[in-house]
Amino acid sequence: MTQIDYSQKIPNNVDLGSDKRLQRALERWQPDYINWWRDMGPTNFNENEIYLRTAISVERDGWAHFEHVKMPDYRWGIFLTPHETEPKIGFGDHEGEDAWQQVPGEYRNWLRRLIVTQADTEPASVEQQRLLGLTAPSLYDMRNLFQVNVEEGRHLWAMVYVLHRHFGKDGREEADELLQRRSGNADHPRILTTFNEPCEDWLSFFCFTMFTDRDGKYQLLSLAESGFDPLARSCRFMLTEEAHHMFVGQTGVARVIRRTCEVMNEFPDADPREHGAIPLDLIQRYIYFWASSSLDLFGAEVSSNSANFFAAGIKGRAYEGKYEEHGAMDQFYEFERYQDGRLTKEAVPLRNAMNEVLRDGYVDENIKGIEYWNRECEKTGVDFRFAYPNRRFSRTIGEYAGSHFDPEGTPIDEATWKANVAQWLPSAEDKAYVKSLMQPVTERGKYAGWIAPPKRGINSQADDYEYVKL
Ligand SMILES: [Fe+2]
Ligand SMILES: [Fe+2]
Repeated sequence: MTQIDYSQKIPNNVDLGSDKRLQRALERWQPDYINWWRDMGPTNFNENEIYLRTAISVERDGWAHFEHVKMPDYRWGIFLTPHETEPKIGFGDHEGEDAWQQVPGEYRNWLRRLIVTQADTEPASVEQQRLLGLTAPSLYDMRNLFQVNVEEGRHLWAMVYVLHRHFGKDGREEADELLQRRSGNADHPRILTTFNEPCEDWLSFFCFTMFTDRDGKYQLLSLAESGFDPLARSCRFMLTEEAHHMFVGQTGVARVIRRTCEVMNEFPDADPREHGAIPLDLIQRYIYFWASSSLDLFGAEVSSNSANFFAAGIKGRAYEGKYEEHGAMDQFYEFERYQDGRLTKEAVPLRNAMNEVLRDGYVDENIKGIEYWNRECEKTGVDFRFAYPNRRFSRTIGEYAGSHFDPEGTPIDEATWKANVAQWLPSAEDKAYVKSLMQPVTERGKYAGWIAPPKRGINSQADDYEYVKL
């Protein structure tokens, strides 16, 4: 079944109506979800009509439909990418066996943990971003924020479906708890650190969608390979939606850079701050912060969990199909160990380095994104180059946590770190300045002075399109 049934209370392409118990359980969860959305979702805009896209099909083309809708009326649903052939497990110790349609008992706890950890990030990011609508630099940006928010809500639905459908009472309890944890709450925080960081200004939001949503993409890519078929198919469809989130980050930061470069060209002797733009070195510090924090999300470089998940066939590599061999046995991965103040190369069994393998693809993609930003400077003739931090910089998880490295990855002592950190990570002054710029612009076709307009509208709409009806 590829068409989505919108006549149901919960739109879906999983024939939910044929399993009445499951349908009832999810219909009971639905009002709790809406209450959570009203309490913790975007503030002040639940009664406004927003130009949003909704999935209408799970086919590659023509899957989305755009219309004005109030966010609480968004049709959050359950969509799984269909199969062309009988799915097989693609890697690990069960390679070649039929993929599991039910949870394999021996891997139940691991799978539950993987699913809950992924699921928890979805409502967390909505909570982190809940105040941003109040300071949007344009209606275009406000609409993009809300699009990201409703889709993260849908990603929560995708994971909650898997929990309800396949994990019985435990799964229902986990689904309830997903609505109870709160980003940044000291007593009941979200599971992963980055998802408890405040995201209170739009430069942070663009960095978040660039770096943190891209971590999400890579986690989804690895889960889309899972031998547990319902999880794999859920994640595949989530990836379709995820691409727009990274587009928002990539082009958002690019537009901030473009605006600053324009100001620098117009007033070569002035501090860009005098003309309401964000200095390039300040943007770089935001990049360093969100890039390094997001690198932590992949976990430790050497990890027995990652080896177990791979061996079990429940979490693979991104694009597992591109590898010639899917056992990853008797192979080694060379990484840099940091011990007694020295970096040395060490080979670890490949299966234990799967977090690092995933991180490699992620880093490569981010570096391409940084090059895209550098082209903004080149195009305007501004002599500045943005950099992606070395993966040892400012880490709190794994091999390099607890030690100091500069953004190029060179080990440094504590005194050097303290003397330079204000050049590398956003200072209180930086944050206060960015915050001072966060004044809403709600006139159609107008943009705040610190950001350039986008190159084209959403769904080819005109410059002054009414993306949000205020
Ligand atoms: Fe998501
Ligand atoms: Fe996302």
